[in-house]
Amino acid sequence: MRRREFLAAGTGLSALSVFPNLSKIASAASMPLTTTATVSVPTLPQKVSIIDAVTRRAAIASMQLQYVWTDQFPTLPGVPLSALLPTQELPTIEWLIGAISVGITIVANLLGAVATVGGQAVGAQLSSINSQLASARTTLAASQSLFVQAQTGSDATVNALLAGQLQTSLQALFTQLGTMGESALTVLTTALSSTSTTATRTPASYDALFTAISRPEIAGYLHDDAMFAYLRVGGPNPMLLTSISAIPTKFPITNAQYQAALNTTDTLSAALAGKRLFILDYVELGAMAPAGGTSKTLTGTGYVAAPIALFALLPGAATLSAVAIQCGQNPATNPIICRTAASSSQAYWAWQMAKTVVNTADFNYHEMFVHLGRTHLVSEAFCVATHRQLAPNHPLSVLLLPHYEGDIFINELAAAIIMSPDTFGDLILGGPIAAAQQAAARDRLAFDFYNQMPPVDFANRGVASSSVLPEYPYRDDALLIWQALLDWATNYIGVYYKSDADVVGDGELSAWVTEIASSGKILGFRPITSRSQLAQVVAMIMFTASAQHAAVNFPQSQFMVYQPVYSGVMNAPPPSGLSASQQNWNALLPNMVAAIAQMHFLYLLGSVHYRSLGNYQSANFAYLSTLTDPAITATGGPLSQYRAALTAIEAKINAANTTRSYPYPYLLPSRIPTSTNI
Ligand SMILES: [Fe+2]
Repeated sequence: MRRREFLAAGTGLSALSVFPNLSKIASAASMPLTTTATVSVPTLPQKVSIIDAVTRRAAIASMQLQYVWTDQFPTLPGVPLSALLPTQELPTIEWLIGAISVGITIVANLLGAVATVGGQAVGAQLSSINSQLASARTTLAASQSLFVQAQTGSDATVNALLAGQLQTSLQALFTQLGTMGESALTVLTTALSSTSTTATRTPASYDALFTAISRPEIAGYLHDDAMFAYLRVGGPNPMLLTSISAIPTKFPITNAQYQAALNTTDTLSAALAGKRLFILDYVELGAMAPAGGTSKTLTGTGYVAAPIALFALLPGAATLSAVAIQCGQNPATNPIICRTAASSSQAYWAWQMAKTVVNTADFNYHEMFVHLGRTHLVSEAFCVATHRQLAPNHPLSVLLLPHYEGDIFINELAAAIIMSPDTFGDLILGGPIAAAQQAAARDRLAFDFYNQMPPVDFANRGVASSSVLPEYPYRDDALLIWQALLDWATNYIGVYYKSDADVVGDGELSAWVTEIASSGKILGFRPITSRSQLAQVVAMIMFTASAQHAAVNFPQSQFMVYQPVYSGVMNAPPPSGLSASQQNWNALLPNMVAAIAQMHFLYLLGSVHYRSLGNYQSANFAYLSTLTDPAITATGGPLSQYRAALTAIEAKINAANTTRSYPYPYLLPSRIPTSTNI
């Protein structure tokens, strides 16, 4: 099925059904249910017979019919994506069961939240959805039992038939859950449109939305300056903090302001000389943060700004301190607001407002750039190119395909129900959706492959050394995973490529490189001439699809579901002066429709953990291991070495988490999915 047909079939509020056309896709093509994971022993193209070479080229040609590039997606202009949604890209039974389990919790919470906000008037309207939800729970429980039967039955044919039926029924159930959510949101928007919404919203208004879902711990740190600083190194977006060697002219903070903010005799010049100053600059948001706000049909007028924030390490300190925030790019119209103690009431609330401005900008930057652009969309380019240029039994195909599992499918949903007008992105993010589409596309096309490798990225931002920035849990854990992946890639490649000449002589590999750089538009991707370079490239592909996505995806359900701390939109403009009140801060809290859409959608994204790192399984029933070459799987071989390394990292991170300011669980190997699938 063409993906743009899928898109055209569901936009607007009706597209909030999570799987608007899934059943149509599934019925349009037979499911590959009985395919085993067996492939012949992986081989390089230059090392096969002439007959095998012909077979190999035919296999590649077949895949090129299924995986076709397009950069004409209306919601992601210019981004190279798969034009089609091949049947084998549909989710597995295991993924569906996991996602449906989370979906049932979400609908239950949504019904409670709508009843809370809408009052008694909506109760009757929700009763039929409540009945459907009870039925969904029963169906899920029965499906889980049937899945066990399909996996353990003695007759493979019967098992496959059972799996086929399950796949169809679970897809229908998932679609049904989406429809329930859509119906509940419609009840809410209708109720709110007919009632007065002038009541003052406070954090308690949002606390009350957590009915079946637990309110996250971040709620206990609402105005906490230490947590605000920590989020830059251990929150959803740990990718922007940059060391500075000079104060930017567009952020003219003075020494007096610095000393007052931190109540210190330390000086700005000493902090600069000691490499103890760091900055966040949200300039890249551009048109996503328009002056004057953006008016939307369902959520009213909302605001996003592009602030600049300064952080410092006081002499001898291990943890960052927030210093000051400028709520826009122009210092002439945006005064620098310094950190202020609670005793100074009016300045204190201006400071709280400024922190909300930063977290709102961070929310937008995170979702469009760090999350969507630099993980989901980057992996799709590698997925398409791998299918199109490497034979199914090429060693790199065998290794990499499990790292792409689910990516095209979830990106399809992103294009349809996040990036389309009046769907989740439009509801949740404050700026114009067209600006978000263009900005996400621009950021994806600027993804510079070699410069994004973790050690290079940390060095480029001046935060590589623990002597410069002692507390940076994302960095410390990411480098452990990076090294394990690099070792795994090196050992794996060494089995098949006996020399650098084997790399240079691999015609499929060189075609793959060309395809990624040209059709895939991966900036900086260049010819691969050595085994060590190839290992770096493969490690980066695996890291991006697994660990990097995990680090930016799963904090969504821990931090970004709590709107008083993190929201994609503010309901009032940023502060224009240095004085404010608590009521002014309350006025920033988001519109209830936006808030409810945000918390439920991000809870889903941050709660589905599927197939952890180290597992290599087929996406087709019976989901067998895809690594079957004894040279890889033998005891003590590359795979067991890799898994042992992951086990050691798990223990090391768990130990580190006992002494960190806050535990950082997102890069525990057991919590990193192999692929970007949610
Ligand atoms: Fe994601």
